[in-house]
Amino acid sequence: MTAYQDAYRQSLADPEAFWLREAGRIDWVQAPTQALDDTAAPLYRWFPDGTLNTCANAVDRHVAAGRGDRVAIHYDSPVTGEARAITYVELLDLVGRFAGVLAGLGVRAGERVLVYMPMVPEAVVAMLACARLGAVHSVVFGGFAPAELAVRIDDARPTAIVTASCGIEPNRVVPYKPLLDEALALATHQPAATVVLERPQSQVALGERDVDWDAAMSTAEPHPPVPVAATDPLYVLYTSGTTGRPKGVVRDNGGHAVAMAWSFDAVYGMTPDDTWWAASDVGWVVGHSYIVYAPLISGATTVLYEGKPVGTPDAGAFWRVVADYGVAGLFTAPTAIRAIKREDPDGALVAGHDLSTLRTLFLAGERLDPDTYHWAAERLGIPIVDNWWQTETGWPIAANLRGLQPMPIKPGSPTVPVPGYDIRIVDAEGIEVPPGQDGSIVIRLPLPPGTLPTLWGDDDRFVDSYLRAFPGYYTTGDGGYLDDDGYVFVMGRTDDVINVAGHRLSTGSMEAVVASHPMVAECAVIGVHDDLKGQVPRAFVVLKAGAGIDPAELERQVVAAVRSQIGPVAALKEVVVVPGLPKTRSGKILRRTMRGIADGRPEPTPSTIEDPGVLEAITPFLAPRSG
Ligand code: COA
Ligand code: AMP
Repeated sequence: MTAYQDAYRQSLADPEAFWLREAGRIDWVQAPTQALDDTAAPLYRWFPDGTLNTCANAVDRHVAAGRGDRVAIHYDSPVTGEARAITYVELLDLVGRFAGVLAGLGVRAGERVLVYMPMVPEAVVAMLACARLGAVHSVVFGGFAPAELAVRIDDARPTAIVTASCGIEPNRVVPYKPLLDEALALATHQPAATVVLERPQSQVALGERDVDWDAAMSTAEPHPPVPVAATDPLYVLYTSGTTGRPKGVVRDNGGHAVAMAWSFDAVYGMTPDDTWWAASDVGWVVGHSYIVYAPLISGATTVLYEGKPVGTPDAGAFWRVVADYGVAGLFTAPTAIRAIKREDPDGALVAGHDLSTLRTLFLAGERLDPDTYHWAAERLGIPIVDNWWQTETGWPIAANLRGLQPMPIKPGSPTVPVPGYDIRIVDAEGIEVPPGQDGSIVIRLPLPPGTLPTLWGDDDRFVDSYLRAFPGYYTTGDGGYLDDDGYVFVMGRTDDVINVAGHRLSTGSMEAVVASHPMVAECAVIGVHDDLKGQVPRAFVVLKAGAGIDPAELERQVVAAVRSQIGPVAALKEVVVVPGLPKTRSGKILRRTMRGIADGRPEPTPSTIEDPGVLEAITPFLAPRSG
C-alpha cells in the first residue's frame, strides 16, 4: 500500500487514531483525548475536550522555541513602493499589544470583531489578536460595497471593527473608512468602537467612536493568549450562497489548527524552513488558511503581497517576488496566471528571474483550464498542482499531496481525494454513479477537522443548505466525476454560485439588484465563459410592458447599481434586453438550462418547457464574452 492509500484508508476507517496523532502537531493547553464527537450528528465537532490558543500556536510557540528571529511575514507592496520584514518576535509584540487594544475596547472571548482592511500586515495582526483573546474575527473583502458590509455587520454583531483609511487598487485609491461609515449608516447593529489604521495615501478625520491604530498601539499593554475550547469559533467568513443572503461559515479553533498544520506539510509539502506565498487576499478563505494560519502555525515565512499580478509594474511582478524572497511554494488562482500569460505569452519575464527556489505552483479557486496548466508547466518547468476546495472546507478536498506522496498529474483534475474526505459522485436520486459518469460531488459525513461545523447562529440553514439534499452526505455544490484511477474532475457549480477571477459570487444577489430597476419586469443573471476571468456575470432582462429606455443607458444604470450595491468585485458589465426568458409551464425560469448552455455542457431541454423558441432565441447570447 502506498503512503497515500495508507493515510486515506486510515483517515476514513479510524479517524479517531488518525486525527489524534495529527493533533500532536499543535501545542495544546489541554491535549484532547477524543477526536470526533458525533453525539449531535449530523452536526459534528472535533477534539471536544481539548483547549488551546490559535494565536499562541501561530506566534508565541515559535519564539519560545528559539525561532523568534525568523521572518514571519514579508510584506511586499508594489502599489505603495513599500516592503517590510516582520520577524516572529516582532509579530508577537504587535499581536500582543493589539490584543491589549481590543481588550481595552471591551472585546472579550466569544465576541466578534469585523476586519475590513486591505492587504497590509495590520490585517494579519488584527486577525491574530482576535484569536489571542478568543474573540471571533470576521474579515470582509475590500471589493464589497457598503450594503454587503452592512449585512455582515448585522449578522455578526461585532463589538469592534478594525479598518484602514484606504486600500489601493492600481487605478485608484479605495476609501475604506468612508465605505465603512456608509455601511454603519445602513446597519442596525452598531459596534462600540472602530479602530482605524491611517495610511499616507488617504487620511481620514476620526469620529467619536474611532480609535487611531498608531495612537492606541503606542500605549497598549500586551495581552496574553486566552485558552479556548477546541470547539469554540475562531472566525466567521461570509461566502456567497444561492440566495442573496451570505452564509457565515464558522471555523473552530482546534480542528482548524490541526488541519492547517497537517495540510501545509502533507498537501503542500512545505516545511518550517520554507518561504511560502499565497497570492490571494485575506478577505477570502485562501487568505485565511494559507496567507495567515497554515504558514504561521507551521513556523514558516509567509509573503503578504499588496498588488496585482500584472501592471505593478509589469507581468513579471510575481516572478520578482519569488526571486526576492526565495519562495518555495506559490499559490494563486488560474486567472492570475491567465493575466500574466496574456501580457507575457512567451514567458520572457519568467525567464528573466531566478526561480530556482520555487518547487511547486499551486492553483485553486476555479477550474484550472488545460491551456493555463500547459503554459505554466512549460514556462516554469515545475509541478503545477491543481487543488479543489471551498470556503466551507477551509482546506483541500482533492489535491496532489506533495508532502505525503506526489502523484502523476492529469491536466484538468485536482488529482485524488485528500485523507479525511470520502468523496462520492451521485445522481439526482442520491445513487452513486460509476466512474466516468457526471453527477453531484458529495462527501460522506463526517467531514474532517477544520471544515465548517455550522453556519453562524443558524444550524437549521447549515443543515438545509448542505446536508438535506443527500442524507448522510455533505453537498459541495459542485458537479463532476471520478475516473477509473480515482482522480477527481470538477466541472463546475450546480447552483447559482459563479467564480469570477477566482472570486466567489452569487448570481442570486445580482438578480435582486437588477430586478429592483424600475423598468425591469424580470431577469436572470448567468455566468458566461471569459478567457481571462474564467466566468463573468451577464444579465438577461425583460422590460416592463411599455417601458422605453435605450439599451445602452439601461446597461449603464444596471451596471452602476450592481457596483454600488454589491461592489466592484461583482464585475457585472453586460446587460442584454430579451423579449422573454425560457420558463417551465409553471413559470419557473430555466436558469439551470441556461447555465448548461453557457458552460458548454448543455443538458436535454426539460419536457416542461413552456416555449422552446424563447430558449433558442436566447442561446446565442449565452456565448463566451469576447474581448
Ligand atoms: N478593494 C476594492 N476594489 C477591489 C478590490 C479590493 N480589495 N479587489 C478588486 N477590486 C475591484 C477592482 O479594482 C476592479 O475594479 P474596476 O472594475 O474598477 O477595474 C473590480 O473590483 C474587479 O476586480 P477583479 O475581478 O480582480 O479584476 P481586475 O481587472 O482588477 O484584476 C486579475 C484581474 C485576474 C488580475 C485579478 O482578479 C487577480 O489577480 N485574481 C487572482 C488572484 C486572487 O485574488 N484570487 C482569489 C482567490 S485564490
Ligand atoms: P471559494 O469558496 O471562494 O473557495 O469557492 C469555492 C468554489 O470554487 C468551489 O465550490 C468550486 O466551484 C470552485 N473551485 C475552487 N477550486 C477549484 C478547482 N481546483 N477546480 C475547480 N473548481 C474549483
